[in-house]
Amino acid sequence: MSTEKKKSDSGSASAPPALPAPLKDLKIKYTKIFINNEWHDSVSGKTFPVINPATGEKICDVSEGDKEDVDKAVKAARKAFELGSRWRTMDASERGRLLNKLADLIERDRLLLATMESINGGKLFPNSYMMDLGGCINTLRYCAGWADKIQGRTIPMDGNYFTFTRHEPIGVCGQIIPWNFPLVMFIWKIAPALCCGNTVVIKPAEQTPLTALHMGSLIIEAGFPPGVVNIVPGYGPTAGAAIAHHMDVDKVAFTGSTEVGKKIKEAAGKSNLKRVTLELGGKSPIIVFADADLDNAVEFAHIGVFYHQGQCCIAGSRLFVEEKIYDEFVRRCVEKAKKKTLGDPLVSGIHQGPQIDQEQYGKILELIESGKKEGAKLECGGGPWGEKGFFIQPTVFSNVTDDMRIAKEEIFGPVQQIMKFKTVEEVIKRANNTQYGLAAGVFTKDLDKALMFTAALQAGVVWVNCYSALSAQGPFGGFKMSGNGREMGEYGLQEYTEVKTVAIKIPQKNS
Ligand code: NAI
Ligand code: MG
Repeated sequence: MSTEKKKSDSGSASAPPALPAPLKDLKIKYTKIFINNEWHDSVSGKTFPVINPATGEKICDVSEGDKEDVDKAVKAARKAFELGSRWRTMDASERGRLLNKLADLIERDRLLLATMESINGGKLFPNSYMMDLGGCINTLRYCAGWADKIQGRTIPMDGNYFTFTRHEPIGVCGQIIPWNFPLVMFIWKIAPALCCGNTVVIKPAEQTPLTALHMGSLIIEAGFPPGVVNIVPGYGPTAGAAIAHHMDVDKVAFTGSTEVGKKIKEAAGKSNLKRVTLELGGKSPIIVFADADLDNAVEFAHIGVFYHQGQCCIAGSRLFVEEKIYDEFVRRCVEKAKKKTLGDPLVSGIHQGPQIDQEQYGKILELIESGKKEGAKLECGGGPWGEKGFFIQPTVFSNVTDDMRIAKEEIFGPVQQIMKFKTVEEVIKRANNTQYGLAAGVFTKDLDKALMFTAALQAGVVWVNCYSALSAQGPFGGFKMSGNGREMGEYGLQEYTEVKTVAIKIPQKNS
């Protein structure tokens, strides 16, 4: 999501406290399915293991939700959404207060949640504590502020009618999230949905269910009515597919691979045409002109691809550098990558932790091998690291051409591809020559050139002289096969309401 760089110049709404040490004796209390503000075993009685990716060892077992558990959760969410229910009759401002209360409780449990996120997700502890937890708190407070400001309009319709619109909640929202930002994604999904008055059935990724389940306990403590939020841990093709195909789920919001995103839309089409929003993969370009502030560009290009081991949807994994500065730029990128220290994400001074699991680890190493075979120049890294866990050396390829797999496929790992370009026209064409369109960055001191790129690049967000600048206020989402719809900001909230027009016959209207 955001970057280390951003931390230093954020001036954020809630200034984080100084970084503490991770919690020493983390205890996992919540491992069951959360329905109706209660903890349930799975209907099948099955559990699945949750692994620490830094060691490959099991942390605990968690109840494995499947179709029957999703059915139970949807029933609870539907009941909580019935006309006249406590949730439906609650003041909108009270929904805002509950969201703020949830933010307060996350602040209280910040150390525990950040430690859990690092152990389960392989995330560097300072990033978990500062960036992820800070982002969660800010997002909840942002949505809390909106709860009583979602308004319809009165409309001057032809004829003798009094016409107004109601912005109503959609209903039961299914939400399926990935493992790279487990808690941030949990909050990005539930906060706008609840702000608008929906109820939720959310499935965390099978790799990282622990912080989501801890949130269940905070949802009870904050005072949300039973059934408003239900959390069903489980696998994608079972529990995830059951949400996507469910006839009584009104909307599904998904973040993850483009491959599964297609299945979600297909499932919506085959079932009840539920509303679908998707935030999918990317192969985002970063373009550096010779006139750019090079220190700044090298730094952002580095963070843009190596942040969280490259496991970011916005990873700037196609770096186009103007020919005149290419060799020097590559030299500096390699120097930065070589300085990274790998190890336990809980230990201070570590710059890179493990990949999430064996599958991702294997996929990344295979793509690195393809880069070597297809003739890219391996500048550093290029293989696994360490004796245990899923670590991969920070890897930089130069002399990359657009036809290579590493220039086309989402790697989702610590691998930087550096390409060379000569002209503006050429680089626009090459940057846009992808099925994806999530993010893009351009580095230049020439304002006219920068503005031209903000229009020319096909991406949901374009950063100029920076990268990864995300916040609760700014809408986020993809062009092309990077997704449908927007999350966060006012645009994100619109994806959680239905607009209803009400026309009332009146004897006579007056202007
Ligand atoms: P995935 O798309 O399979 O998993 C994401 C979520 O979808 C998980 O909760 C999973 O359980 C669920 N899911 C999987 N199959 C499903 C199905 N048939 N129906 C409903 N839900 C389903 O992603 P995966 O396998 O973890 O990673 C594969 C690649 O996807 C990565 O290498 C990366 O390229 C990309 N990815 C992109 C993310 C993003 O932030 N946009 C996040 C995670 C992965
Ligand atoms: Mg998958």
